[in-house]
Amino acid sequence: MLAPLYFLLALNLGASTEALREGDQSPPTRPTPLGVSSPKKSQWGFLITGVVSGTLVAVYAVATPFITPALRKVCLPFVPATTKQIENVVKMLQCRKGSLVDIGSGDGRVVIAAAKEGFTAVGYELNPWLVWYSRYRAWQEGLQASARFHISDLWKVTFSQYSNVVVFGVPQMMPQLAKKLELELEDDARVIACRFPFPNWTPNQVTGEGIDTVWAYDVRTFRGCDKRP
Ligand SMILES: C[S@@+](CC[C@H](N)C(=O)[O-])C[C@H]1O[C@@H](n2cnc3c(N)ncnc32)[C@H](O)[C@@H]1O
Repeated sequence: MLAPLYFLLALNLGASTEALREGDQSPPTRPTPLGVSSPKKSQWGFLITGVVSGTLVAVYAVATPFITPALRKVCLPFVPATTKQIENVVKMLQCRKGSLVDIGSGDGRVVIAAAKEGFTAVGYELNPWLVWYSRYRAWQEGLQASARFHISDLWKVTFSQYSNVVVFGVPQMMPQLAKKLELELEDDARVIACRFPFPNWTPNQVTGEGIDTVWAYDVRTFRGCDKRP
């Protein structure tokens, strides 16, 4: 991706060294047949290189965090929840309170919706651009105290302190995430899965249809506490 940048820099460095070498032997503003002086040409070269390089670096910096999730072992790209999906998540949170976490919080829409419902909501997200955008959205809504966002890898965070967990994942990650949540969550916690269910858990509630389907799992149930005498 940066190859064109190096190429342009190399071209320009070559041009400037040549100009210096020429400058040793002749006056600095030697006129060309068209009446355009070499230093002017070189200035344009630097300007164009600067603009092209700056654009490439900016595109690279913005695009990389969106592309890298696709290159990880578990590919979890940014796909925002639909409005209906968020409504279904909120439905599953009725009669619930306390803290909430959205695992891979994207642009923060789930966290912000939960904060509006009175939850202390937190999002963990790998992409820094999305985290900064989420913080900006929360600030715009006046929710900066109840909607917070962290730039973190979901596999390196412990979710034990949360009583409500929301995840819009991909099928490949669900068994591994289930193991993690089984180990970490308190008995009274609830896990809400969007679009893709946990394959080995039986949901306590399901709502919505198609891509907007949402499944709710109570930890007590999947841990088998409900069956204990
Ligand atoms: C399917 S999107 C869901 C976004 C949001 N939760 C929503 O419902 O609108 C998954 C998000 O997880 C993020 N992600 C991918 N791998 C991650 C990781 N290892 N740790 C944290 N976030 C990750 C992606 O950048 C993406 O924004």
